[in-house]
Order: sequence, then C-alpha cells, then structure tokens
Amino acid sequence: MLRIISVVGARPNFMKVAPLHKAFEKLSVVSGQRSVESGKWKVESYKVGVENESNINHQPSTINHLICHTGQHYDEKMSKVFFDELELPKPDFYLGVGSGSHAEQTAKVMIEFEKILIQEKPDLVIVVGDVNSTIACSLAAVKLNIKVAHVEAGLRSFDNKMPEEINRVLTDTISDFLFVTEKSGVDNLRSSGVSTGKVFFVGNCMIDSLIHYLPKIDKSTILETYSLQPTAYLLVTLHRPSNVDDEQSLKKVIVMLNHLSEKRKIVFPIHPRTRANIKSFGLESLLNANVILTDPIGYLDFISLVKNCELVITDSGGIQEESTYLGVQCLTLRDNTERPVTVEVGTNHLIGTDFKKAELAALEILSGKKKIGKIPELWDGKAAERIVKILIEKLEADG
Ligand code: UD1
Repeated sequence: MLRIISVVGARPNFMKVAPLHKAFEKLSVVSGQRSVESGKWKVESYKVGVENESNINHQPSTINHLICHTGQHYDEKMSKVFFDELELPKPDFYLGVGSGSHAEQTAKVMIEFEKILIQEKPDLVIVVGDVNSTIACSLAAVKLNIKVAHVEAGLRSFDNKMPEEINRVLTDTISDFLFVTEKSGVDNLRSSGVSTGKVFFVGNCMIDSLIHYLPKIDKSTILETYSLQPTAYLLVTLHRPSNVDDEQSLKKVIVMLNHLSEKRKIVFPIHPRTRANIKSFGLESLLNANVILTDPIGYLDFISLVKNCELVITDSGGIQEESTYLGVQCLTLRDNTERPVTVEVGTNHLIGTDFKKAELAALEILSGKKKIGKIPELWDGKAAERIVKILIEKLEADG
C-alpha cells in the first residue's frame, strides 16, 4: 500500500489539495483514517474514502492519502471555511504551529512534521504552492529520505525579497517530482539544471477547483449581501508585506482606493495582516464609505466576487490565475509576477507599485480599454488527475 501525505498550511493551499484528494479517492481504494489530537484543532476519529481499511485487499495500487494541516493559517475564515466548502475531510494531522517570524514558523512546522513522518513513514509527501509550510515540510521529508512532489513547481518572480520566491526555489531544488502549471515553469526548471525526467507540465490544480465548483459559485448570493451589480464594482485584495507593512505605502493605497471609489463601489475583503496594519497606523477613518471592508471571504463567495466584478486589483498570486481563467481584468500591484502566462495570454496587467500609475491604469480599464485574454494551456480541470496518475505509476515502478 502506498502511503501519501499531502500538506496544507495557508489559505492558498486548500483549493490545490482538494482536487488531489478527490483524484486519489476516485482512483484509489482507501484514504485517511487517523485519529490524532494535537495543536488547537481537536481531530476526532474519522474516515473518508469508499471502504474501510479492514475490508481492503491490499493491492499494490491501494493508496492511503492523508492530509496534514500545519496550522500556519488558523482563523475560521482563513482555514476551516475552505475545508467545509471544498469538501475536504478533517485533516489527519493538525500541527497547530500558528503565526511567527519566518524562521520561527518554518522551524516549528519542521519539528512537528518530522514527528508525523517518523510515525507514519509515508512513501511520498505532496506539497503545494510557495508558503512557509511548503518548504518546511519538503525539507523535513527529504532529510528522512522520503520522496517529495511539488505541485505548482517552477514558477519564478526572480525577486528574492519575496519570501515565497525563496520557498519556491528551495522546494524545487529538493523535490523528486515537479508538477508545473505553465510553460514558463518548465523553462525555469530546465535553465536551473533540473533533470527533465522529474518535470511534468500538468496544468493547474487551483483551476481544477474553480471549474469543479463553478455551479456552486454561480449560486452564491454574495452580490446581494453587499448590494452589488454584476460588472459594476471593483474587487480589491492586498496583503503583501511590501504593500501593506509600510505606513506610507498603505496610505497611498487608501488614497488610490478612495479616488476609484468615486467611480465604482469597491469590495475589499481584508487579510488579517492588512487589517491589523490599517488599525495600528490609525488609517481606518480615511477610507471612503464606498469602499466596503469585509472580513476574509469563503472560497465560493470570493470566486463569485471575482467572476462578476469589472476589475480586480490585487497583489495575490492565485487571483491573477483565477481572474485569467474567468476572463476578468486584473491589475497586479507588484513589480514582477511568477505567473507570466496570466499577462502574456490572460487578462492580467502587471502594473508595479506606483499607486498613482495603478489608479490611471484602473481608470483606463473602467473607460473600456480591456484586454482580451485566453485560457492558458491545460487549465482544463484535469491537472490533479494527471498528477495522481503519474505519481501512482512512478511510485509503483519504484516498488
Ligand atoms: C501567507 C503566505 C503567502 C500567501 C498568504 C495567503 C508565506 C511566506 N506567505 O502569507 O504567500 O499569499 O499566506 O494568505 O507563507 N494571521 C491571522 N490569522 C490567520 C493567519 C494569519 O491573524 O489565520 C495573521 C497573523 O498576524 C500573522 C499574519 O497574518 O502573523 C501573517 O500570516 P502568515 O501565515 O505568516 O503569512 P501571510 O501574510 O498570511
């Protein structure tokens, strides 16, 4: 029996692991049935999958797919709501590491995850994306000679000031299987000398989730909740330290949003980091009433907001891809993107961090100057199935 542990830690991980879990369930016979109590999330005994392990004839293709949540994100609205909406089972292991400095958070995940690895002896660990939990769990696994698969490998911003870039480069360097979402990733891995036999261009698991949940997304009533008309409001998300940790920069963001809110309503679901900074810099009273600040929003409602808005303004990675898939205009307030296909093929405009320039670019889009995009290659809802098939073949071939 193959034992596989997939890791989730932060909000952008959940929608990437959900389709993998579904693909394992579809192809395999049994998945997690651990009972673990640790951290802040008491995990009850539970079982998912189609059969009880005791009924299983242990064929080589039998897979025990387990989920480990590091607890990097822990708020109900940053974590649990995604498990519920994406129909993920409760995690088999919850490490409860919480927030901290980069070193502290990464180290805590490593220490706790190593214990799980020693106890469970998996054949493979799957990590997704580029958050601190991604590198921490890969590193703990490879040091125990456990194979690692990195989903969303090869993306590069070439900006080492982004903690995610460091996480991406290091995770790719030590992983055994590299699953790539766009061609630039294949090129980046090739030019960094990675053996081509490890690299698989499979498409985008996050887009698998989006496609799978579109019928439910279309039933969302979030627009009514905030009295929004389709294609007549802007959606804003900002949480990168470079945009929101500096008082002057955050003030400029607010000035830009106030100006734009004279033209359109703005919905701004706010990351805990950004909310805390707005409060600590005393900027709350500066925002116009036409800027609706909300708590972080669940997956289905959030994608409904993206799908129906006139323009997204963001510094997120994933939202650049989701807006491209949905054909929605996106202004990315960063100097670089590790997802160039969204600019070259999709509807993303990489605008930099000059907020005056961003305001002008937004006004141009609102006046009708829109980019026509296409859906990138292999973003077809089947990435997770491709990944699971490759992994099973490779792991079984290795015996
Ligand atoms: C992390 C990822 C980033 C991703 C983002 C999505 C890293 C290096 N960064 O950034 O790539 O785009 O998640 O949200 O891994 N906090 C809460 N409640 C929570 C989680 C966080 O209040 O559930 C607050 C805490 O004050 C914490 C801060 O947010 O210190 C930052 O959280 P952290 O996980 O360190 O990084 P993010 O900024 O969320």
